[in-house]
Amino acid sequence: MPSDAWKPIEAYPLKRLDRLFADDPNRLARFTHEIAGIYFDWSKTHLDDALVNAFLELANERGFTRVRDALFAGEIVNLSELRPAEHLAERGSGSSAAVQLAAARRTRMRALVDAIEARAFGPVTGLLHIGIGGSVLGPHLLVDALGRSASRLQIRFLSNIDPQAFEEAIEPLDPATTLLVVASKTFTTAETLANLSAAIDWLREHGVADPYGRTIAVTAAPEAALEAGIDESRILMFSEGVGGRYSLWSAVSVSAALALGWDAFEELLEGAAEMDRHFRYSAPAENMPLLAAFADLLYTQKLGCQTRAVFPYDERLRLLVPYLQQLEMESNGKSATADGKPVGRPTAPVVWGGAGTDAQHAVFQLLHQGTVTVPVEFIAVAEDEGGLPEHHRQLLLNAFAQGAALMCGSKSDDAQRSYGGDRPSSTILLDRLDARILGALLAFYEQRTFANAVILGINPFDQFGVELGKRIARQLAEGEGEDQLDASTRALMERAGV
Ligand code: F6P
Repeated sequence: MPSDAWKPIEAYPLKRLDRLFADDPNRLARFTHEIAGIYFDWSKTHLDDALVNAFLELANERGFTRVRDALFAGEIVNLSELRPAEHLAERGSGSSAAVQLAAARRTRMRALVDAIEARAFGPVTGLLHIGIGGSVLGPHLLVDALGRSASRLQIRFLSNIDPQAFEEAIEPLDPATTLLVVASKTFTTAETLANLSAAIDWLREHGVADPYGRTIAVTAAPEAALEAGIDESRILMFSEGVGGRYSLWSAVSVSAALALGWDAFEELLEGAAEMDRHFRYSAPAENMPLLAAFADLLYTQKLGCQTRAVFPYDERLRLLVPYLQQLEMESNGKSATADGKPVGRPTAPVVWGGAGTDAQHAVFQLLHQGTVTVPVEFIAVAEDEGGLPEHHRQLLLNAFAQGAALMCGSKSDDAQRSYGGDRPSSTILLDRLDARILGALLAFYEQRTFANAVILGINPFDQFGVELGKRIARQLAEGEGEDQLDASTRALMERAGV
């Protein structure tokens, strides 16, 4: 998409980070923001006021405000599939019809949660949540982040079609007192249906007379769930307009609501709504998801960074990395614009990362001295909730030390011992890790992903790229299409005996 508004950004001479701080005594205040219990520090990126202004021009040219308003109004923003993006309706924004429908469905979800807690299914000690991609990554993250000491149930998540994954998932569960939750927007996903069938067999083989009677389905395709044998009273719906990777706000999180309690689920939605209000109403120059998108674009477009690394310095947030991988890469890993033209510039970088401090001892060498620039994001939690305050202190100090080292570097006459510095990072410091703040954090990432997409002119709400591989696997499973395959793939099949 040729646009003159990129030119000032492309021509702009970047200053070193230490120079940016030296030149502007106000820099820290300008590039830090506090929203919904989260402190965002983008001061160690190369953004400055001139660049922000140039990006604001670009955003303006791309119609950012108009498209954002359309998103919040529940208009059609997913142009390839001609539908609105209705995940916002789950937290109170969108067309009034969508908001009301989401609220009514939430009431039904709550009734089911209450019924389970009131022992309508007898004693329940375990849950097996079956789903893949957006139908598992969100709830799994919620339970792993918030349910470590508080989970009311033994809850396991099963996604992969690998039999080892199935064995591992059922291992701690008692089939007599376990409920199945099967989440699938389409209710056609091969892995999920195969795992559901194996889980039904597992219950039956262990004496459960009516395994379907102990199964809850969450889907946007209720007919398919009915057809699969699940009674209407245990089918929870969400809208077709809620994308899989945006669905943790819906009944897809019923397992998390059962594990963490209903109040936690409501607080998650409230935290997200608070971030939505910030994104919707704050001035563009102060708008954190938008500023973060500007920095993302600065690094992908101007410096050619092909990856972005995310390091939660908190074990409870380790599943944030796979969650963000789907959110950002499935949304914005595109080569065509929303109007079907070649996008003509880099889109989403590869998102990768891991938990600090572990990752420091494995991959940080390259971040400090490698030949590629990787924008790094640190996420930490200020409040200590563990029983070892000194450990927590060390954890935070390590996160902050890494950011300082990346930026400041350290000169040496010995090239091998020299750190060039000037390597960008952003830091997100949560006051504490609770459902409300986690909701705000995840909404921040969603809105940042959306802002990137608007400026790049792409549709973040479809994912046609995942279809081809699925189609070929399906054909091969049905014994078709092998003769049309390349020699390498045919040989692999033959050697593996499949
Ligand atoms: O293959 C990708 C994908 O379609 C994701 O977009 C989605 O989250 C996942 O598969 C699971 O799909 P479903 O919820 O329909 O089972």
